[in-house]
Amino acid sequence: MHWDGWTSMDIQWYPGHMTKTKRMLITQMKLIDVVVELLDARVPLSSKNPDIDNLAKDKRRVLVLNKSDLADPNITAQWKEYFSQLGFFVLPMTAVNNDKKKGGVNNLAKTLHDLMRSKTEQQKQRGRKNMTIRAMIVGIPNVGKSTFINQLSGRSSTTVADRPGVTRGRQWINVGNEFDLMDTPGVLWPKFEDPKVGLHLACTGAVSDNVLDKITLAEHLIAILLDVKPKALEIRYKIQKSDSDTPSEILNNIGTARGFKMKGGVIDLERAATVLLDEFRGGKLGQITLERP
Ligand code: G4P
Repeated sequence: MHWDGWTSMDIQWYPGHMTKTKRMLITQMKLIDVVVELLDARVPLSSKNPDIDNLAKDKRRVLVLNKSDLADPNITAQWKEYFSQLGFFVLPMTAVNNDKKKGGVNNLAKTLHDLMRSKTEQQKQRGRKNMTIRAMIVGIPNVGKSTFINQLSGRSSTTVADRPGVTRGRQWINVGNEFDLMDTPGVLWPKFEDPKVGLHLACTGAVSDNVLDKITLAEHLIAILLDVKPKALEIRYKIQKSDSDTPSEILNNIGTARGFKMKGGVIDLERAATVLLDEFRGGKLGQITLERP
């Protein structure tokens, strides 16, 4: 849809520690066999940092489409195909869930083994039996890195420090004698040059709400939803809507439907916006992906 509101979105915010993080990642990358990048399955492209492709260009790469429970499964399949064609191993996942059948974290073990097979075979021929695979987890804040590491290591984990060739004090989490995960996940923000990237990340809650006007953000979310899942708002909020309704009219209707009235009968748009954003982020509007390949 055409909506002039897109250009009014200006996220006044930039994380200052990026250079330091990048430098740290470059140093640590030398110790790593596989880089596992977590993306948010609802916004795979917006949550992907192109810098990592550069930083990890000589490494085996896994892309985890996390929070798949909140994303449209058909579109997740399309994203999987898209990234696979670019040469990544792609794994849809729900990190809060460790049930393999439900896309839990344990599926990663198999992927890492498959990915490393040639190297482990080579090591075996040289007489080294149990090679541990060293993996680094990277991704934007809130994408599920800690959840993922905790779930994986929850199987049988011990923390191992001071491995040969490893900076003193650096901690590794040993998972079932098969993997060593670097205990500090790498945090990198994508570029915000395209306003839609910032917008998508704000809608999913990766960017703090404090840096944004909630009502404007909610209106943006409505505009996106009208495009990607036109019926979702009508179904959730039991509102009638016509094609000519603007996002702000729809937000007003949501507030009315929920009875969010202030003195004088004015609708509390701030409250309507908060509810809409919370419910979208919590999956209450259904499994929705905001961008397509
Ligand atoms: P981070 O280390 O990358 O910053 O992310 P973290 O693991 O802390 O996860 C952020 C939030 O996302 C957590 O919710 C976590 O439970 C949730 N989360 C992680 N993986 C999944 C997933 O696959 N599906 C769903 N639905 N949620 C997932 P939280 O502790 O409630 O934090 P918040 O929601 O209050 O921010």
